[in-house]
Amino acid sequence: MATSKQLTISVFSGAGMSAESGISTFRDSNGLWENYRIEEVATPQAWAKDPDLVTAFYNARRKNVLAAEPNEAHQAIAALESFADVQVITQNIDDLHERAGSSNILHLHGQIRMAKSSGPNQEKAYYPIEGWELTEKDLCPDGYRLRPHVVWFGEAVPAYEDAAMMLSKSDVLIVIGTSLQVYPAAGLIHFAEKARTKFIIDPKADELDVPTSFEKVNTMASEGMQQIMEWLKKR
Ligand SMILES: NC(=O)c1ccc[n+]([C@@H]2O[C@H](COP(=O)([O-])OP(=O)(O)OC[C@H]3O[C@@H](n4cnc5c(N)ncnc54)[C@H](O)[C@@H]3O)[C@@H](O)[C@H]2O)c1
Repeated sequence: MATSKQLTISVFSGAGMSAESGISTFRDSNGLWENYRIEEVATPQAWAKDPDLVTAFYNARRKNVLAAEPNEAHQAIAALESFADVQVITQNIDDLHERAGSSNILHLHGQIRMAKSSGPNQEKAYYPIEGWELTEKDLCPDGYRLRPHVVWFGEAVPAYEDAAMMLSKSDVLIVIGTSLQVYPAAGLIHFAEKARTKFIIDPKADELDVPTSFEKVNTMASEGMQQIMEWLKKR
């Protein structure tokens, strides 16, 4: 039976969350965008032009995710559930929050280990991908080619309203490893109006544009989560 705890914590994570697990971020030097152009691999137009290139790009990402392990920050977030109701809202398409043991995870931008139809009924069904490879032979029941279940630039974010609702109920907000440059996701932090305490953990936290109500933790995710765990234990 689900039990309700007194404290509600929301975690809002981005690519930096998984950096210590060996998964590249998008915007750091040597991040993914250094080597690819967004329009070539992460837009509906890219799929229309060259589905094989897009599929190969995400196959490589999936291979990387399968080889990665959750890091100490993912584990610390899962451990918060011993004393709080925790909702993880992630921009990440990897499954490292799941593998660390978090129970409530909302993937704003999809999940790389799932596929969906490239036809008109894209959000009707999601299909788990066995292993790392999606190929041109993988089709949905309507005969359309399967594409990664990832929200591309220019596409709607169907989970946005659910995420906003969850954030509006949180007492504590922990934002980790996001440059807050991808919209509409980045705007979600403003829904946490009720949260008494808000942290942002990022080695570049000082440079990030967040309201003054945020406490900036200028560290990598694992060290920052350790500091926040200590802070929470004292309260
Ligand atoms: N792991 C993944 O699933 C993955 C990886 C790359 C990109 N993406 C997607 O890319 C989009 C990019 O936006 P974004 O804001 O998430 O990423 P981003 O690349 O724009 O920003 C990453 C942020 O993480 C910080 N960072 C780097 N190393 C860190 C560490 N060890 N600990 C904490 N923070 C660290 C950087 O300073 C930066 O501010 C998202 O929509 C996301 O879906 C996902």
